Amino acid sequence: MSNPAAMRWDDRYRQEKEFWLEREPRQLLTNYAHLLPNEGRALDAASGVAINGIYLARLGLKVFALDISEYALRLAKQRAETMGILLEAAVVDLSHPWLPEAHFEVIVNFHFLERATFSIYRKALKPGGLIIFDTFTKHPKQKDAPEYYLDPGELLKSFQDYEVIHYSEQELDPSERHPERGLAQLIARKP
Ligand SMILES: C[S@@+](CC[C@H](N)C(=O)[O-])C[C@H]1O[C@@H](n2cnc3c(N)ncnc32)[C@H](O)[C@@H]1O
Repeated sequence: MSNPAAMRWDDRYRQEKEFWLEREPRQLLTNYAHLLPNEGRALDAASGVAINGIYLARLGLKVFALDISEYALRLAKQRAETMGILLEAAVVDLSHPWLPEAHFEVIVNFHFLERATFSIYRKALKPGGLIIFDTFTKHPKQKDAPEYYLDPGELLKSFQDYEVIHYSEQELDPSERHPERGLAQLIARKP
């Protein structure tokens, strides 16, 4: 049975392959690289071609890339292989998430929102583990698909009992590819 989101994202990655493969790891990750461990397990959730996961793997972490797009994960595996890096990848629909408990030192969730993952990420992190989010927030001019956009303060509230190392919300300028939207960033450590 085909999944419409999987088909849509597979098509998008087929058409925009170079665009995604040429991207750099997200600045939030590289700016806070000093916080990242160089061993243990990391999850790159909704990884796409796993630019961020491969960055974590190069630091020494054992990385699991999960995404609904089989095609994107194939590109991720090929890229990792070319670089001589081990990357585990699995096709998963994170709208119905399950993860093993107390399993990861680091979880990154970039440019993806599925609220069902919040409680699962919380359980899946080991004590002392880091959750790193860089995800879009609602903008007054952007009315489409509110389920894909955080409310102001929502992310912080969802991890308020963690040690918050970094939190910010900002408005992004609209571009050819995207309408007005905001961005929330969070780095927090599980107690
Ligand atoms: C904007 S891309 C972000 C990719 C990557 N995290 C990054 O920062 O470049 C959103 C990703 O979410 C994935 N995705 C969308 N819906 C999903 C779902 N229900 N379960 C898992 N992945 C999903 C898409 O395939 C895509 O790779």
